[in-house]
Amino acid sequence: MASTSRKTKHQGGAPASIVTLTLSPALDIATQIPRLCADVKLRCALPEYAPGGGGINVARAIHRLGGHALALFPAGGASGQQLIELLDAEGVANQPLAIAARTRECLNVVEQASGRQYRFVLPGAGLTAAEQQRLLAALEALPTPDYLVISGSLPTELPADFLPQLLQGASRCGVRCILDSSGEALRQALAVGGLFLIKPNLNELSQLAGETIAGPERLASLAQGLVDSGGCEHVLVSLGAQGALLVGPGMSERIAAPTVERRSTVGAGDSMVAGVTLKLAAGASWSQALRYGVAAGSAAIISDGSELCRLADTERLFGWLQAHGHG
Ligand SMILES: Nc1ncnc2c1ncn2[C@@H]1O[C@H](COP(=O)(O)OP(=O)(O)OP(=O)(O)O)[C@@H](O)[C@H]1O
Ligand SMILES: [Mg+2]
Repeated sequence: MASTSRKTKHQGGAPASIVTLTLSPALDIATQIPRLCADVKLRCALPEYAPGGGGINVARAIHRLGGHALALFPAGGASGQQLIELLDAEGVANQPLAIAARTRECLNVVEQASGRQYRFVLPGAGLTAAEQQRLLAALEALPTPDYLVISGSLPTELPADFLPQLLQGASRCGVRCILDSSGEALRQALAVGGLFLIKPNLNELSQLAGETIAGPERLASLAQGLVDSGGCEHVLVSLGAQGALLVGPGMSERIAAPTVERRSTVGAGDSMVAGVTLKLAAGASWSQALRYGVAAGSAAIISDGSELCRLADTERLFGWLQAHGHG
């Protein structure tokens, strides 16, 4: 990221460039069991392996939607190698940074009797101090992207100044940073200020605000408060089946999600971030990007298991939202 001047707003022509950063990537393992019971061996169906972790899924969803994003992430051990191979097989551009610790594996188990999904999420592999510096250097060495999407949790032992340092470096280069994270990571990032966009869900915003959000007016005023404080330029609050609220300078728009057959909620948030980023990178308006993001999120709901949004579903739902999408 060599440039030091803030880029001008993207205007048509080639789409703007997108890099995603995943600090806690995962190898996702999906399987099924007849019934969940304690104290017995649970014989599982043959596992399916998929790349996992917020930024990685955003890059995969962008690829599925016909766009291009480079996924940057630390990877270690046999699970890290398998993650890279799976991304290569999907054709997702990726730049892994070799680390000593083994990439985590996460287990998604469907109980056939009930259709319920159990998601076991292990802690992300830690990065040594030298690896942290190498990751910052790798980001620094990339051609400056227009958008940097940082999504997912952070490894627990990452020092408190790591994300702020990374964000400060990116904004000095004029990169538009999009953050989809929660808890302390979100708080730290907002304290740096100048984020382009954050995408909390209702629980994450509620946790950040330290209150149960009572009604749409309070929701809108909390989101507006984040913009007014200078922590971020835009806030997109995803509301599950209720759709989403977008607040930015001089704008506030809420739209309902289309009613869809719910197969699996896995990947809804990542698909939404992918949809919004892709549209913005193509030079679309915020209103269009909001609708495309909601369409992509809802398209992920229609897809089975851990599958992300499909292009055809996203386009169809986007068309519907353009005609009918309102608050
Ligand atoms: N039941 C649903 N029906 C229709 N659309 C949905 C439903 N659930 C989610 N969506 C769509 O996906 C978007 C993102 O969903 P959600 O608010 O659940 O994100 P999230 O909590 O960040 O998800 P994730 O668990 O993937 O991180 C919503 O704004 C909506 O467009
Ligand atoms: Mg989410």
